[in-house]
Amino acid sequence: MMATRAQQRPDRAEPVRSGEQGRDFEFTSADFARIRDLIHRSAGISLSDHKRDMAYSRLARRLRARGLDTFKQYLDLLEAENDPAEWEAFTNALTTNLTAFFREAHHFPILAEFVPRRPQPVSVWCSAASTGEEPYSIAMTLIEALGDSGARQASVLATDIDTQVLAKAEAGMYQFDQVKHLSPERLKRFFLKGTGAHAGMVKVRPEVRALVRFQQLNLTDRDYQLRSQFDAIFCRNVMIYFDKPTQAQVLGRFEPLMKSGGLLFAGHSENFTYVTQAFKLRGQTVYELTRDATGTRTPARASTSTSTSSHTTSGVTV
Ligand SMILES: C[S@@+](CC[C@H](N)C(=O)[O-])C[C@H]1O[C@@H](n2cnc3c(N)ncnc32)[C@H](O)[C@@H]1O
Repeated sequence: MMATRAQQRPDRAEPVRSGEQGRDFEFTSADFARIRDLIHRSAGISLSDHKRDMAYSRLARRLRARGLDTFKQYLDLLEAENDPAEWEAFTNALTTNLTAFFREAHHFPILAEFVPRRPQPVSVWCSAASTGEEPYSIAMTLIEALGDSGARQASVLATDIDTQVLAKAEAGMYQFDQVKHLSPERLKRFFLKGTGAHAGMVKVRPEVRALVRFQQLNLTDRDYQLRSQFDAIFCRNVMIYFDKPTQAQVLGRFEPLMKSGGLLFAGHSENFTYVTQAFKLRGQTVYELTRDATGTRTPARASTSTSTSSHTTSGVTV
């Protein structure tokens, strides 16, 4: 049986922990600590201890691709060369991209009710778009809420730090299994069914695709280089990877990018109430900007909305 590299160099390796047998590369606590530091600095992502095996398996591919023998060599190279392509691969390897069409479904009726009441055209930013299911769900909601012609003026900016998922998102092709939970009406209206080599696949229809623009954007960048404001920002299931100071910085950058009365949609386990005063909770992980049209912050109270009845839709009150 072939010895692993860690076994070949017992002097440099730490005691082999359970689950580490059979690894191709030595992977020390110092390596993992360095990876954590680098991904935190570059993408704001805080990797917890239990992500150690994940980091190993995903980055081992980069060592193989670069023909390297140790994580130390790889991390030295990453830091020394300042090679944008390798940094991109490093970041892509460490992101978690789980998503789904109409995930956390209660948000979409709220969006559907919100957008017709806004000055048109409306614009929505999906700031952790992953493989596209979320921005396409937003675009479909805009079409349902505004009608085909109304939605043609609307736009969805879909961004993510991970270039690999953005490429998949742009293609707009999914397994049928990923959409089988959608209503027959939505399936018919928004997807084309694959045939031949694409049997078992669906493609987002061009009229949905036309509303969405994809772009790489790192939420921890100081300046997002976005020059227009949004009626709504979706920032769901990404802040959980950031520590509180990073969350506060991101929310601070969202504030000037939000139109007065704009809504911020967060993930189910994300709570910004104690992170910022710029947004306040309206209910069910939906936040509202506290600054009014004059730029004055409204006092923190249950809701600043002028119409309470119109905030109830599909049994959801926000
Ligand atoms: C778990 S997915 C959530 C996808 C979608 N928002 C949802 O809720 O279904 C998290 C996404 O955040 C992205 N991400 C992580 N760090 C980021 C950063 N610093 N800037 C932008 N996107 C980031 C990841 O690449 C990943 O696609």
